[in-house]
Amino acid sequence: MFRKRSSLILCGLFLFVTWNAVLVLLLWGRAPSGQRGDGQMDLALMPTSDVMGDVIRMADSFESELEKQKKILSQILSHQSMWKPSNRKGSKVSVPSQPVIPILVIACNRVTVRRCLDKLLQHRPSAELYPIIVSQDCGHATTGEVISSYGNKVTHLKQPDLSDIPVRVEHKKFQGYYKISRHYRWALNQVFRNVSHTSVVIVEDDLEVAPDFFEYFRALLPVLKSDPSLWCVSAWNDNGRDGYVDPGKANLLYRTDFFPGLGWMLLREAWEELEPKWPASFWDDWMRQPEQRRERACIRPEISRTLTFGQQGVSLGQFYDKYLKYIKLNSEFVPFTKLDLSYLREKTYRKNFEKEVYSAPLVTYDEVKQGQLKGSGPFRLQYSSKDSFKVMAKSLGIMDDLKSGVPRTGFRGVVSFFYRGRRIYLAPPPGWTQYDPTWS
Ligand code: UD1
Ligand code: MN
Repeated sequence: MFRKRSSLILCGLFLFVTWNAVLVLLLWGRAPSGQRGDGQMDLALMPTSDVMGDVIRMADSFESELEKQKKILSQILSHQSMWKPSNRKGSKVSVPSQPVIPILVIACNRVTVRRCLDKLLQHRPSAELYPIIVSQDCGHATTGEVISSYGNKVTHLKQPDLSDIPVRVEHKKFQGYYKISRHYRWALNQVFRNVSHTSVVIVEDDLEVAPDFFEYFRALLPVLKSDPSLWCVSAWNDNGRDGYVDPGKANLLYRTDFFPGLGWMLLREAWEELEPKWPASFWDDWMRQPEQRRERACIRPEISRTLTFGQQGVSLGQFYDKYLKYIKLNSEFVPFTKLDLSYLREKTYRKNFEKEVYSAPLVTYDEVKQGQLKGSGPFRLQYSSKDSFKVMAKSLGIMDDLKSGVPRTGFRGVVSFFYRGRRIYLAPPPGWTQYDPTWS
């Protein structure tokens, strides 16, 4: 393609230059006496004693020459589209057409949404490529004023239905979860149906983003789009507490069967699949059910690209004080768009991951806990029941809850974490085939 285009350009330029050369020669020869070097005379340009007539003939001749030149120029111009590529590297005029990734901020009644928005705006590399849409539920005036104070830096939407949702008596205390679910459905419909974006990154109002948050999602968008075994990309590592992640591996990414949420990317196709059956409440746990997940995985980082500061939330800080507030936020910018991410492709990843995990030496819980491991690792710690998983997870300080049988951060049953400076895989016995949804 490139060769053909450049020969066309050359051809055009050659014609243009030649014509100009001819013109210059012609005019040079003509200017003082109308005589050319070779003694030949152009009839039209033959000097006569009639000076006026001479000038008129000269003008006519110029006119037709200019006309020819105009034609050549317009021919060259008509091929311009071929030699002004939009994606060629190093060309100053080229503006690579990159996909727009809107950021949807879910807000309600917390004025601290400011912290979320300030960080997003601080790290956002381009307003055009990452429009920020703040969707506000709850009709809270002060929070609304905070959002409005950002002017046209963000789009402020308001979820119109603020009515209470009728729920059964035992669920009265879960009203908040019903409202969150209603809000998500409305907000995602705004993004995908009203504005018809093709992807979105959802951020809750109590999340702060890392410097390479945008870079991360941009790099992972093509990965997500091209792999039907994936259905989300998340910025969150559920076990990403300081000491539980490898500080030297900020560029490391995983596949996980556990839907992490908390700063995550979704494609329109997936939304179209989920929207018709969107649940009335507990949308995130619903996503984790086998009917919705359909064995698809998410990408998640070793070190989180979001941090949650929402102590006063709908779940009343259930996990916040124990785990969430310790999740380490990545600080080093990783140029993900320039990295080779092909290791995340399903077959390659599964093969390498299984080899890595199951060739790691099997160790005992006590050896891990007491720091008696010899060598640099990785090591494998085996669980064979729900209870042994829970006991070990709890006492090692990683999340011990399972949703629809999947442990947080798990991939094919394996939980990868850092402990006393070594990589540990908490893994089921070799030959794992499926999750048991009764493990919870
Ligand atoms: C937890 C999850 C959250 C999930 C929610 C629903 C964590 C740390 N958080 O919420 O990701 O979405 O369960 O299952 O696991 N909001 C509304 N309308 C309301 C109340 C809240 O839109 O009436 C919004 C908030 O602005 C926020 C989001 O819903 O963006 C979650 O609310 P929050 O109060 O933070 O609840 P969590 O307990 O964190
Ligand atoms: Mn929250």
